[in-house]
Amino acid sequence: MKNKLYKIAPSILAADPLNIERDALLAEKSGAYRLSVDVMDGHFVSDITFGSNIISELKKLVNIPVEVHLMISNPDHQIDNFINTGADVITFHYETGVDITNLTQYIKNKNVNAGLAISPDTKIENLTPYLKDIDEVTVMTVIPGKGGQSLILDCLKKIQFLTEFRKNESSDFLIQVDGGVKKDNITNVFNAGADIAVAGTAVFNNHSTVEDNMNALFDKLKV
Ligand code: DX5
Repeated sequence: MKNKLYKIAPSILAADPLNIERDALLAEKSGAYRLSVDVMDGHFVSDITFGSNIISELKKLVNIPVEVHLMISNPDHQIDNFINTGADVITFHYETGVDITNLTQYIKNKNVNAGLAISPDTKIENLTPYLKDIDEVTVMTVIPGKGGQSLILDCLKKIQFLTEFRKNESSDFLIQVDGGVKKDNITNVFNAGADIAVAGTAVFNNHSTVEDNMNALFDKLKV
């Protein structure tokens, strides 16, 4: 039985682009808490990845939740497209400069959980005005835009600020870490206080099967 205390969210960005259905089902079968889908627009970050159609199909395919990570400029302009996919969580970036309070409320009013992501160079204190409303905070531990990077350990220090705020303000937002999570650092990630860890290339790669990769991550977390 997978240790369900630890929530691992495989990132479809690292899946085989010609076999996303296969890889998504394998991830679900291997104990994934949810799927994470990185949407990139070629403007906020240099790559272009998935559109809303893939997310709609994934929602029909798997029984676990789907989180959409919008690495796009002007997320408010596109938000209805992604709300209409049936996504369970939509995460947008602080660095877009969008009206965070308004967009958060808009997403929540559509019965979708709202997540706020913060890039490595952004101070965590900047999120303070939004933490009472947001459902999740994603601490990026790599520069947004590419999978397969190395985790920036210093970013994990931001989690302490979040856990202290949560305790002092009786908030209940979830804390997600995204970027470079591997066997050799996943214990650090959860010990730092993360609730959810996104893992792309640690789960989907040519060295081993999805099941073996997921088990290797869970095995590292066994108490
Ligand atoms: C970066 C992406 C990646 C991805 C995870 O923009 O958001 O963090 O989800 O990929 P890995 O686990 O390979 O870093």
